[in-house]
Amino acid sequence: MGVRRATVDDAEAIERIRVETWRATYRGLLPDGLIDQLQPNVERRRERLRSPAPSELNFVTEEGARVVGYAFAGPERSRDREYPGEVYAIYVLPAFQGKGHGRALIRECARELADRGITAILIWVLRENMIGRGFYERLGGTPVREKPLEEFPGAEEHVEIAYGWKDTRPLLT
Ligand SMILES: CC(C)(COP(=O)(O)OP(=O)(O)OC[C@H]1O[C@@H](n2cnc3c(N)ncnc32)[C@H](O)[C@@H]1OP(=O)(O)O)[C@@H](O)C(=O)NCCC(=O)NCCS
Repeated sequence: MGVRRATVDDAEAIERIRVETWRATYRGLLPDGLIDQLQPNVERRRERLRSPAPSELNFVTEEGARVVGYAFAGPERSRDREYPGEVYAIYVLPAFQGKGHGRALIRECARELADRGITAILIWVLRENMIGRGFYERLGGTPVREKPLEEFPGAEEHVEIAYGWKDTRPLLT
């Protein structure tokens, strides 16, 4: 297993993981219509990986030569005063969960953010996503913020919770 920076060539794998893991995670939690219309968008992903914002961190994790998970991180999107860093997304294929990939991805995000002077971070998670929440709690995060899910039309009644780490040093070991 190994975590590395994502490159343009990872676009297809990332999109496959995004769609498969999204469907497995959110089916039954979010409206079926939303889950069914989810499609890989390799071109858009390629474009984003080709010219990422300077502050954006994109990682993948591999099992052998296969990319099985990814995480994106950077500055907190709403400029939170207490938590200047954020992990925007973290997904590991269902068949490869529970093997340490998630922990390794978060470690790398925390390490690179700390190198840039950011040592307090947030991660937003759907309130009903007990897999994600259990994982963040295991890693020492605590729920610190709450907001309506704004991204997806038709799912506005859902709520997101932010797990926070005031000091990411324990994540680095
Ligand atoms: C959440 C997710 C990224 C975790 O990745 P993972 O590779 O399965 O997690 P790891 O194997 O690295 O687990 C790290 C530790 O957390 C624990 N853990 C993992 N999931 C857990 C859960 N649901 N509840 C409690 N503990 C959990 C592991 O037992 C492990 O503990 P240990 O190191 O003390 O043995 C992954 O399960 C996933 O992609 N889930 C679906 C998508 C999702 O919910 N993403 C987050 C959206 S915000």
